[in-house]
Amino acid sequence: MPHTPRVFSGVQPSGSLTLGNYLGAIKRFVELQGSGMETIYCVVDLHAITVWQDPKELTAATRGVAAAFLACGIDPKKSILFNQSQVPAHTQLAWIFNCVVRLGWLNRMTQFKDKAGKDREAASAGLYAYPALMAADILVYRATHVPVGEDQKQHLELTRDIAAKFNNDFDAPDFFPLTEPLIGGPAPRVMSLRDGSKKMSKSDPSDMSRINLTDDADAIAQKIRKARTDPEPLPETPEGLEGRAEARNLVGIYAALSGLTAEQVLAEYAGQGFGAFKPKLAELAVEKITPIADEMRRLLADPGEIDRILGDGAKRAEAIAVPILEETYRTVGLIGSR
Ligand code: AMP
Ligand code: TRP
Repeated sequence: MPHTPRVFSGVQPSGSLTLGNYLGAIKRFVELQGSGMETIYCVVDLHAITVWQDPKELTAATRGVAAAFLACGIDPKKSILFNQSQVPAHTQLAWIFNCVVRLGWLNRMTQFKDKAGKDREAASAGLYAYPALMAADILVYRATHVPVGEDQKQHLELTRDIAAKFNNDFDAPDFFPLTEPLIGGPAPRVMSLRDGSKKMSKSDPSDMSRINLTDDADAIAQKIRKARTDPEPLPETPEGLEGRAEARNLVGIYAALSGLTAEQVLAEYAGQGFGAFKPKLAELAVEKITPIADEMRRLLADPGEIDRILGDGAKRAEAIAVPILEETYRTVGLIGSR
């Protein structure tokens, strides 16, 4: 049974979004709206609470991510936009997947190891089971394509493993699709401005390490001016960036923001130092990001309207998810779906 092409992706409301989220994920979400595939985008609040979240901040961050999606160009007429906790089918399917996934598989997940840190005994059970919920987010819609940054590759492989095991265990070939990750695009991995070996993250303790979508022009310019670099001039080809993680990152950001390739950027700036390159990059970043921040502020002034959009999206999401959940329950031998 071929599955209807359908795109699903999610972003956690755990702090304000960064340039990495934008270039690695949201920019592609927007582009996929014109692909002919149905697009479903979710603010994954239930994933966020796998680590402690202050309740008021969680509510604000959920609206903040929704506003960022809208400000970046997600159109609720073209896509379904909602927050995860409003569609209980995600957690219902996640329980079934908790019973499909093997402990050995979960033990290999690097995001769990990173987030749990040294004191693994103190991590929540939710953090450990997180990948089964993520698989449920995707498969409760039988989504065939998932655009994400590179850091999510392992979770998507696990999603395929869960789908394959379910289909096999219940002798239901093609019941769930083997979802394709869409990794790549302009900047699959944007690195920290302070350390070219770490990804840019909204949870990094240093605000100077990232550009937030809500930063104003001065903050953006200052962060780029202070970004770590090396004293060498820019090379003529991308191969010349080998071993120069910080330089490569800034060139990659410039390329992704301008829509050029790294080759084209270097053709323009080869031989120049960062003293010349950084102001150009800052100008470009300000030009692309400040309109998003302005639109987010406008949207956040009316939280009722954001909640209305999320509620409407949740109803439309549920209309797709519930029949698939009911079919799953029947396949497992459970009576009823609610
Ligand atoms: P998160 O902030 O972890 O919820 O991630 C939301 C989406 O943004 C996921 O698809 C991530 O892969 C992507 N993402 C997060 N940080 C980066 C980054 N530094 N570079 C590229 N993509 C990223
Ligand atoms: N785990 C993803 C992240 O940390 C967020 C996420 C949750 C997600 N469910 C998803 C991404 C489903 C894609 C599809 O970024």
